[in-house]
Amino acid sequence: MSTAANSILIFAGSSRVNSFNRKLAKEAARLVREADARPTYIELGDLNFPLYNADLESRGTPGAVIRLKEMMHAHAGWIIASPEYNGSYTALLKNTIDWASSPAKAGAECSQDEAENWKSGTKPFAGKVVGLLSASPGMMGGLRSLEHLAPLMRNLQCWVAPQQFALGKAGDAFDAQGHLKDEAAIAKVKAVVDQVIWAVQRLGT
Ligand SMILES: Cc1cc2nc3c(=O)[nH]c(=O)nc-3n(C[C@H](O)[C@H](O)[C@H](O)COP(=O)(O)O)c2cc1C
Repeated sequence: MSTAANSILIFAGSSRVNSFNRKLAKEAARLVREADARPTYIELGDLNFPLYNADLESRGTPGAVIRLKEMMHAHAGWIIASPEYNGSYTALLKNTIDWASSPAKAGAECSQDEAENWKSGTKPFAGKVVGLLSASPGMMGGLRSLEHLAPLMRNLQCWVAPQQFALGKAGDAFDAQGHLKDEAAIAKVKAVVDQVIWAVQRLGT
């Protein structure tokens, strides 16, 4: 699968029904579409990855993990909305990244060819432009989760966009339809979106 120009993969590190970060990620997807780029929004909770365990993986990488590696690789950039748990990112986000960054192992749901294709753990990540968002009911907006997430993404050879946005007081920030109420907040999400699109065009990832 080749990488599609201007394609942006978007996801949040929460599966909570009324998650502020899922709402923020969907706002980012809307702004990507308005910028004439191509968003793909996915729900990490729907992937149903088991908790990462190398013994389990040695019996074969789950098919859903291979599909995510393919999807990550096929997009030029990503936007992640990260909740903050105890000053860091969530287990859901870390577990997803751990599976996606581990070299594939052949088994019932992963062919020898797929294992060979995904033997490099960084292949789904290398060269991706990543825009970071966060949302929290607190004043800091989950900013500390981004301070942990940025080096993690860089370690996987991603280009982390310098523009980022942490939405504070997220409990008051969205209307009944899940849209951001404040124009200034929308402009800050748009600044991240625009920088990711700008960078994927220049890097040609
Ligand atoms: C275990 C746990 C730890 C948390 N730690 C923090 C924290 O360090 N900073 C913060 O701003 N919010 C913290 N929160 C509150 C979350 O920001 C809040 O639950 C938020 O709604 C989670 O994101 P979501 O709405 O996208 O699910 C924590 C919540 C949980 C469950």
